[in-house]
Amino acid sequence: MNIPREFIELLLAKVDIVDLINTQVPLRKKSGSNYFARCPFHNEKSASFSVSQPKQFYYCFGCGAHGNAIDFIIQHERLSFPEAIETLARQVGMEVPHTSGSVKKDDSLPALYEIMTNVTHYYYEQMRKSQRAIGYLKNRGISGKIAKQFSLGYAPTGWSHVLDQFGKTEADKKKLLDTGLIIKKDDGGYYDRFRDRIMFPIHDYRGRIIGFGGRILDQGEPKYLNSPETPLFQKGHELYGLYQAIQINRKLDRVLVVEGYMDVVALFQHEITYAVATLGTATTSHHLQRLMRYTSEIVFCFDGDEAGRTAAWRALQVIFPLMQDNLQIRFLFLPDGEDPDSLIRKEGKPAFEKRLSSALSLSAFFFQILSRQSDLATIEGRARFAASALNYIKQVPAGILPEILVEELAKRARIDASELKNQVKKPEAATTDSFSLPASPQDSARPKLKAPMHMALGLLVQNPSLANLITEPLPRSTLPGHAFLGQLLEIIRQNPAISTASLVEQWKGQKEERFIASLVCWEHLIPETGIQKEFLGAVQQLTLLSMDEEINRLLAKAAQDPLTEEEKQELSQWIAKKKMLSV
Ligand code: CTP
Ligand code: MN
Repeated sequence: MNIPREFIELLLAKVDIVDLINTQVPLRKKSGSNYFARCPFHNEKSASFSVSQPKQFYYCFGCGAHGNAIDFIIQHERLSFPEAIETLARQVGMEVPHTSGSVKKDDSLPALYEIMTNVTHYYYEQMRKSQRAIGYLKNRGISGKIAKQFSLGYAPTGWSHVLDQFGKTEADKKKLLDTGLIIKKDDGGYYDRFRDRIMFPIHDYRGRIIGFGGRILDQGEPKYLNSPETPLFQKGHELYGLYQAIQINRKLDRVLVVEGYMDVVALFQHEITYAVATLGTATTSHHLQRLMRYTSEIVFCFDGDEAGRTAAWRALQVIFPLMQDNLQIRFLFLPDGEDPDSLIRKEGKPAFEKRLSSALSLSAFFFQILSRQSDLATIEGRARFAASALNYIKQVPAGILPEILVEELAKRARIDASELKNQVKKPEAATTDSFSLPASPQDSARPKLKAPMHMALGLLVQNPSLANLITEPLPRSTLPGHAFLGQLLEIIRQNPAISTASLVEQWKGQKEERFIASLVCWEHLIPETGIQKEFLGAVQQLTLLSMDEEINRLLAKAAQDPLTEEEKQELSQWIAKKKMLSV
C-alpha cells in the first residue's frame, strides 16, 4: 500500500510535534527555543532529549534518536510506518488515502471492524449462556477472567444465527461476507461459517478484531476453523495474543512463539503473559519484524520430533537475514507428545520458565543441525561443513553476530578464523532501518569541527534559504565538514525551497544522518535578525582558513624547493585575496 507523499506532508503540517510528544513525555522549556525532557529512548538522568517546535523535529544529544512526528510514533509506540501514519491521522481526524495496490476501498473498513466487534460480543454472550461451552473451557483450565480477557466466545449450533442477527439488509450481508463470517451458497443463499465452536477472536496490534479461530468442542474435522483472508486479516502477518501481551506488559522482555490458540491462552492462565501464536502458518519475516519492535528476546517453541526440527530450521532461514546484535533468539524443543498447554498445566510457571531460559541458542541450534549433515572427523567433511555454514552466515547482516558465528565455525571446522572472515566480508550493508531503536551513544561519530564550520552548517540546516547568500563556489579545503557543507549548498541550490526536514531526509541511512539531525536541534541562541550576518561571518572565516591552507601549502613547498613562477604568482594572489577579505 502506498501513502501519497502529499498526504504525509499535510499530516505533518497538521500535527504539532511539541503537543504530540508532550502527551507522552512531559516537556520543559529552557532558555533557548527548544523543549527538553529526559529521553524516552534511553536511560538518563539529565535531559538530553530536545524538541524544536519551529523545525518540528526532535533529537537526543545522548543517544542520537531523532526525527519528525511520524518517526517519534514509530520509535515510541513501536509501530511500522503505515501504522504510525494511521495513528497520527486518527489523532487529527484525517483519513489515510491509499493509492493502488490495496484490495478494498478504504472507506468500507470501519464498518467491517464494527461488525467484527459486534459479533465478538454476540459470541461472548452465547458462551455465557451455554453450559456446554463454559464446561469445555473450565475443563481445559480456563477461568472466566481469562476468557473475558481474550474475549473468548461460543458460536452456537445452527446455520444462521449470525446471519439472522447481523445480516438483515443486503448491505449487512455483504459485510458479513467480506469479513468471512458467512459463506455464500450456490443457490445464492448464505450460512454461518462458524457453528458449534469455541471462538477465539484475533486482535490486531491496536486491539481491533480482524478474524476468528473456532475450535470444535468435541471430536470432528476440522479441529480449528479460521477466518479466511479478508481485507482485515492476513494470516502471515498476525500473531494471536500479541495485543493481550502488550496490554498487560509495559515492556516485553521476552516473547514466546507457540503454535496454538489454546497454548497462548493456557500460558496466560498460568501467568506467562508473553506468548503469541502464529495462525497455523510457519513463522514469516512479517511476524519476526513485528516482534522485533516489541522485544529483544524471542523464544520459538517447537515439537521435539524431526518435524519440529525441520520447522525450526525453516524459521532460522527467516531469522538470519533479519538478525540484529541486540536480538536474542532461542529454540525450545518440547518433550514428546507435549505442547505448551499440556506442559504448563503439568509443571507450572517456574519449571516452564526454566526451560525457556535454558533453551537452545540460535547459534547452538545452527551448528547442531549443520554438523549432523557432515562428518566432522574427516577433512572433506569439515570443508563441506564450513562451506555450507558460510553460505548461511553470509546472510546475517554485518555486526557482532556473524563474527561470533565465524569464530565458532573456525573452532568446529578447525580452520583459521581470519581466513573465513575474509569470505563473509561484504560491502557495508545499508542499514537504513527507520524502525530500529537508536543506537547507543557514539560521540566519535560526530566530526570534530571548528567553531565557524559548526556555525555555518547549523545555521544552513536550520535555514536552508541562507544558501542564496553564497554566490561563489567555496575554495577547496581539507577542513572537517567542508565537503559536507559543499553538498548541502549543492542540494539547496537544486531545490531552493527545500525544508529542513527534507534536507535531513537526504542523508537518511548515511553516516552523516545523526550529525545533521543534531544540527536541527542545535541551539545557536542567535536572534532571528542576526542570523544572516552570523552565517556570512562564519563562511568568511572558513574562506580565510582555506586561504591559509593554500598559503601554508605553498610556503611549505618553498622551504624545500624554489617555487616556480606560476606558484609564486599563486602565492601572492592568495595573500592579496586574504588581505582583501580580512579588512
Ligand atoms: N490449526 C489450524 N487448523 C487446523 C488445525 C490447527 O489452523 N485444522 C492451527 C491452529 O492455530 C491451532 C494450531 O494450528 O491452534 C495448533 O494445532 P494443534 O496442535 O492441532 O492444536 P492445539 O493447539 O494443540 O489445540 P488443542 O489443544 O485445542 O487440541
Ligand atoms: Mn493442544
